Amino acid sequence: MKKIAILASGNGTNAEAIILHFKMVTKAKIALVGSNNPQAYVLERAENHGIAHFTFDKKEFENGSVNAFLLLKGIDMIILAGFLLRVPESIIQGFPNAIVNIHPALLPKFGGKGMYGNRVHQAVKDAGEKVTGITIHWVNENYDEGKIIFQQEVPIDESDTPEQIAEKVHVLEHKYYPKVIESLI
Ligand code: GAR
Repeated sequence: MKKIAILASGNGTNAEAIILHFKMVTKAKIALVGSNNPQAYVLERAENHGIAHFTFDKKEFENGSVNAFLLLKGIDMIILAGFLLRVPESIIQGFPNAIVNIHPALLPKFGGKGMYGNRVHQAVKDAGEKVTGITIHWVNENYDEGKIIFQQEVPIDESDTPEQIAEKVHVLEHKYYPKVIESLI
């Protein structure tokens, strides 16, 4: 059975959708949830589901200690779910073709450093886009630039607020992210 680690920096609704999915689908197991933010609600979600969790700072993420810890725990795949730090070389090399991210827009538009959460939805709105969506992609050393695995669109109305756009995107994320991860295992 493959062991998955989820890394998240915030609320963790995607992490929870993935956790629930892999309680039913037993070819992989969510073995660990990690966060760079000790206040992140995702840690409480992990606790509530009886999943081991850990926190780390930017230095530990970048100096190879997080990579060593994940390898020690026998992790096969890393899933980023609302994770805000750039993944360093040590982890990219430790987990070749085994790190996946979700981005709340249709890459290559509206990606890159600083583009996360509501900032993305605000930018989509400001650009007057008629559709947005989700992008699931492999992770490389540049933000949001790895090979695209899956995209799904959703229409947006001119009157939608960034929060309403976020809600539409979250519906797609929760519906597709767990299944796409399953298909990659
Ligand atoms: C999700 O919409 C995810 O796509 C986005 O953060 C949100 C986290 O929500 N990720 C990024 O913006 C990464 N650039 P969640 O904590 O409720 O899962």
